[in-house]
Amino acid sequence: MRQEVTVIFHPLNRVAQVPVGTNLLSALRCAGIMIESICGGKGECGKCRVIIDSGDYTEQKLSHKSRLSPAERDAGYRLACEITIAGAMEVTIPVESRVEHAQILCGLFGECDCGGINPSVVRYPLEIRSDPVMPFQKPSIRLVGYTGPRPVIPVRIYETITGQETRMEAVITRTNGYPEILDLMEADEGKPLLGLALDLGTTTIACAIVDLETDIVLAEATTLNTQITYGEEVITRIGFTRKDGGLFVLQEAAVKSINAVIDSVTESAGVQREEVLEICIGGNTVMTHLVAGLDPAYLELADAAVFRTPIICKAAGLGIRIHPEAYCYCLPNVSRFVGGDAVGGVLISGLHCSFEISLFIDLGTNGEIIIGNRDWIASVSCASGPAFEGAGISSGMRAMRGAIERIRIDPGTGLAMIRVIGGTRPRGICGSGLIDLVTGMFQAGILDFKGKFTTHPRVRMSPGGAEYVVVGAEESATGRDIVITQDDMDYFMDSKAALSGGIGVLLKKYRLSVWDIREIHLAGAFGAFVDIGNTVAFGIIPSFPNAVIHPVGNTSLKGAYAALISVDKRREAERIAQMMVYIDLLVDTDFIEEYTAALFIPGREEFFPVIPGERRELELGEERNISKSR
Ligand code: FES
Repeated sequence: MRQEVTVIFHPLNRVAQVPVGTNLLSALRCAGIMIESICGGKGECGKCRVIIDSGDYTEQKLSHKSRLSPAERDAGYRLACEITIAGAMEVTIPVESRVEHAQILCGLFGECDCGGINPSVVRYPLEIRSDPVMPFQKPSIRLVGYTGPRPVIPVRIYETITGQETRMEAVITRTNGYPEILDLMEADEGKPLLGLALDLGTTTIACAIVDLETDIVLAEATTLNTQITYGEEVITRIGFTRKDGGLFVLQEAAVKSINAVIDSVTESAGVQREEVLEICIGGNTVMTHLVAGLDPAYLELADAAVFRTPIICKAAGLGIRIHPEAYCYCLPNVSRFVGGDAVGGVLISGLHCSFEISLFIDLGTNGEIIIGNRDWIASVSCASGPAFEGAGISSGMRAMRGAIERIRIDPGTGLAMIRVIGGTRPRGICGSGLIDLVTGMFQAGILDFKGKFTTHPRVRMSPGGAEYVVVGAEESATGRDIVITQDDMDYFMDSKAALSGGIGVLLKKYRLSVWDIREIHLAGAFGAFVDIGNTVAFGIIPSFPNAVIHPVGNTSLKGAYAALISVDKRREAERIAQMMVYIDLLVDTDFIEEYTAALFIPGREEFFPVIPGERRELELGEERNISKSR
């Protein structure tokens, strides 16, 4: 047995007791500390920075490229995933490595019209009749007003019913295909029937508790998915499941986060978690596999045959702590990278009911693009999401306190004006800020049409190559320059080309032009927070002159909500999943052509028939923290 040692983490004052030989990133996870680790511990992202104050350790380089400068190494900086603990240690987690509560889209209150309430969980008054002529025969049970097939009655409930003196109601669920009595309620108690809608994202979780009989949202809550520390992207998570016990670890991490958000939402609503009678989940294919404990390894294959039926099981069997008999219903997946969250998006946007052709775009950690109308629906997915969420960019970060969310570049001087979430000193740049930044740099002549830095006076040379300083070290919260480098720009251009190329493939396959699209539904933070004018000006999405753009919010959560309060919507979602065509861009020859054409700003000429208008300037009244870069 290996000797156990203590690792103390400052300034959080957390302690981990781990065996010698443990990786420092694993020790952080043991201590319940959320640290940035986009690559999942491969030494590639350079985000898991820590400062070693004291102690014994060994270091193993995982990547050929050094992610820390000599000065940073001299100051004690190391990457947690490259450190193996050899004795007691004290470690400081710098501000830029800490994961704090992110801006997570929720907002179901008063927004969702699901066309009528018809939940799967309902209740009926019970009538118990004993035959006075045959007193030894068991009493008969009648559900007043119920007309469906005879429900399954668990023995425990049957015995409770027959022993009851008070007027009771039976709570019935139809989620598993046949009616089943879940529980009994006292008729005069006046308790609501409660359900949960949950968006299970790769990085974030949003949850709403709903009165199933009135469709009223009683409370909402959000949290981070603790799986983050195992890598930002779904492919990294799949890779982790190949490790011994990896699937169990990730399933447990997801369920832990779900239980934490259920704690918050039930506390806000003033109810007990055991009163929740059903949970509906919208999530991508990998996340729903992981939470259900299904091995996602086959999803790495391009021709993976994903089942398009919903995952239905008892919530307690997964470890989700609500009513012990409650069911968990996951919206159906379509393909390995188009999941129930995207199906929920189509359901909510109404794309599948429209005579006009609409486009649905959801840029989360993965990007999904769906096109179609009431007769046909086609989809692609692209790995462009992380860049638009600030991941993979040297000074990038998710949208949370300290993130630069808006940037304006003075076209004359090339100086940056910024707005920071929380009005604090900036730590980094989130997705909406990045889109403003690259567009501003292009319009100010700092970038050329290939996304390469020009010889503009604001561009400086560093050991790593050309870079532009957004905020100087003396003004940042980290004491380091907040910059965008040529490597960052190349990665961003690659992501832009993947998204724009994906749209191009769908238009080409279905012989459509940008003039044919009448509605665009932009889901998630991308629709809610980015400047659409800048998004088009930089060529991230084409210009659609005839289209009306709708920011549609967290459609995964809204889709789960619709499925929770309406069995009809559930069937609609299942139909959408069955009819949706999926085109895998990784094996599509048109994609190479479209992607290559999109590697320029803005991109293919026919995608931009209308010059994007002047982008909206930051209004001084809404600025929370504006400062000039040095
Ligand atoms: S470099 Fe350590 S997690 Fe990415």
